[in-house]
Amino acid sequence: MDKMWSGRFSAGASSLLDKFNASIMFDRKLYREDIEGSLAHAAMLTKQGILNSEELAQITEGLNQVINEIESGEFEWKISDEDLHMGIEKRLTAIIGDAGKKLHTARSRNDQIAVDFRRYVLRKNLEIVEAIKLLMQEIIVVAEKHTDTLLPGMTHLQHAQPINFAFHLGAYLSMFKRDIERFESSRERNNISPLGCAALAGTPHAIDRDMTAESLGFDSVSVNCLDTVSDRDFALEILFNISTMMMHISRLSEELVMWSSYEFGFVELSDEYSTGSSIMPQKKNPDVPELLRGKTGRVYGSLMGLLTVMKALPLAYNKDTQEDKEGVFDSVETAEISLEILKEAIKTMQVKAHNMEKACAIGHLSATDLADYLVEKCNIPFREAHFITGRAVAKGEELNVDLSKMDFKYLKAIDERINEDVMEFLGLRHSMNARTSAGGTATKRTLEQLEYFKNYLQGK
Ligand code: ARG
Repeated sequence: MDKMWSGRFSAGASSLLDKFNASIMFDRKLYREDIEGSLAHAAMLTKQGILNSEELAQITEGLNQVINEIESGEFEWKISDEDLHMGIEKRLTAIIGDAGKKLHTARSRNDQIAVDFRRYVLRKNLEIVEAIKLLMQEIIVVAEKHTDTLLPGMTHLQHAQPINFAFHLGAYLSMFKRDIERFESSRERNNISPLGCAALAGTPHAIDRDMTAESLGFDSVSVNCLDTVSDRDFALEILFNISTMMMHISRLSEELVMWSSYEFGFVELSDEYSTGSSIMPQKKNPDVPELLRGKTGRVYGSLMGLLTVMKALPLAYNKDTQEDKEGVFDSVETAEISLEILKEAIKTMQVKAHNMEKACAIGHLSATDLADYLVEKCNIPFREAHFITGRAVAKGEELNVDLSKMDFKYLKAIDERINEDVMEFLGLRHSMNARTSAGGTATKRTLEQLEYFKNYLQGK
């Protein structure tokens, strides 16, 4: 009968219940947030005359000792204490005596966990943003070397039009910038303090919620306590934000896997970030991007898991909510290591520009340019120009020669109106550089895009 809530019970809890019910083995990760919350709460209770300064001094000293014990590994985390809130409070009371028993005045574990978990998530939103920025910087370093490196731009995984490699990487920079914006806006929206909501309905004690909100770094206090103790939108948002970011990481990873195959040969991952086979001595496997792709699935699982936990909960707090933490911790840790290892893999990979350019020589990548030429120079309606170009492509297939290398006489034979100057238009680099419309692949546009991302990262 050593439970804090044992007053109304006559029999002790079964050890099976302890095991099933406890969150202490995972929520202990929040010990700093929890103790900072307690320190802020105690200072506020003292200012309001609910605790005296002697009690505050004891609580402060006791909690600092608890931090030291936790960080030195001395602290004993016990399943029977159920969660970190009770584990810490119990230890505090053992150290300082009666003052420790007053700390929980005007507070509940319901607002306490809402404070701890929310602050953890708010902090992680920012830390992940910083890690995305480092990844973007590394992508920019690679991109800047390849603003004139041609590779086949694809749709349906079929050769479509020539683009440059920096432009391709710029697509990922765009995705990661949106990711950053999502993490930042989640942080802004959710930066409100639950402390003082108590169990669900507020408290009759004369507390000052603004004071604790401010000392814990929240922008404001929450408006409705019933909502606040059961709201886990902030946790769902970080799971969604991580899921979307991992989806982007996974798309890039998929390309890295393909590009490092013999068939593509566009990149070679460094030895440091590749693995071998236990049986096939020649193998060099892209485990890093494969795992990044795989881990994305696990993160989605956590998002779906928490959405499902929340979907039928009556107001306000329900124990189901305790299932919110492990998936978030796991997803945050996955995001952190994923961003770091992807950054290193990109930094150390070798870009095989020669193979990228070679791949452009097949697939008639400048076919659209021929159609555009017919429209612009010969005043032919686009639909007809499309058909004529189709004939030229068919001729190329028959001769087994790419449109960009086809002898002019064949083109002339297909349509009289085509002149010799067409050959310049069919050149692959010309094709890439012709796409100068806003956001296009032309080297000069790509350079502008890289400048845009660099300015963004510098906060300009
Ligand atoms: N361990 C709990 C959780 O993570 C803390 C809140 C418990 N509240 C309660 N009324 N049992 O959700």
